[in-house]
Amino acid sequence: MAVNSKSLNLSEMMEKENLIDTIDKCRLPKHIAIIMDGNGRWAQQRGEQRVFGHHNGVQAVRETAEAAAELGVKFITLYAFSTENWNRPKEEVDALMQLLVITINGEIKTLNDNNIRLRVIGNVQDLTPQVKKELEEAMEKTAGNTRMDLFLALSYSGRWEILDAIKKVAAEVKEGKLDPEQITEKMVSDHMNAPDLPDPEILIRTSGEYRTSNFLMWQTAYTELFFSPKLWPDFRKEDLYEAIIDFQHRERRFGKTSEQIINCKG
Ligand code: IPE
Ligand code: IPE
Ligand code: MG
Repeated sequence: MAVNSKSLNLSEMMEKENLIDTIDKCRLPKHIAIIMDGNGRWAQQRGEQRVFGHHNGVQAVRETAEAAAELGVKFITLYAFSTENWNRPKEEVDALMQLLVITINGEIKTLNDNNIRLRVIGNVQDLTPQVKKELEEAMEKTAGNTRMDLFLALSYSGRWEILDAIKKVAAEVKEGKLDPEQITEKMVSDHMNAPDLPDPEILIRTSGEYRTSNFLMWQTAYTELFFSPKLWPDFRKEDLYEAIIDFQHRERRFGKTSEQIINCKG
């Protein structure tokens, strides 16, 4: 597999070192969500088929997961295949499913070496039997890992997840377990695919597109957005550091005034 690797010269290495040093380890995001976009364009720029870009995106996944775990981030969620992506040409969908099978299987050892647990959100039932099988196996084999949870969003969309939660809540109402008047935001959150997954503090999207494409719609109500011009296969550890540093320079007010936030810092 061709990987866009180039060795770093001394000044680049120092720059990289400085970048990681400027991250405030006490104010790390717990959960980083990423829309991995731009694989097709990356391949097309090289005169290759789109699937070549998807293959080269795997290295970016490795680097990002490793960097996040090393820093102490507890959860990352990677948007790998959306509900809408089923509408792509059959050959591309098939190639993506095949790539998932190979990658999930091939990464189990690295996930275990790094103490990372693999999990999934999305309409898993719609995935091919082979993907489901590899996923189940990888989730089982990494279930005891505690350093970081890596969520893959597969056959996922935010509206699908909200709809799924509504159906579950409605069923409880129908069974007489719940009074509609008593439904709270917390209850809705508890019916999402992974109720223990906290809302992401940052959502990163690569490839210079400024939209969230139906990703984590419920959970990103107050998430900080970071848009990178890099195409996903070019995304590296330093790009993640840059997004975290940018996030750490923002003031999150949650509807309050700046003065209230500053005063509370004491
Ligand atoms: C993201 O890259 C990967 C998936 C959506 C599966 P794209 O395939 O969307 O690449 P572009 O946006 O067409 O360049
Ligand atoms: C979003 O990328 C989905 C994933 C990254 C899996 P798309 O490339 O499918 O998004 P749109 O359709 O351009 O918004
Ligand atoms: Mg795209």
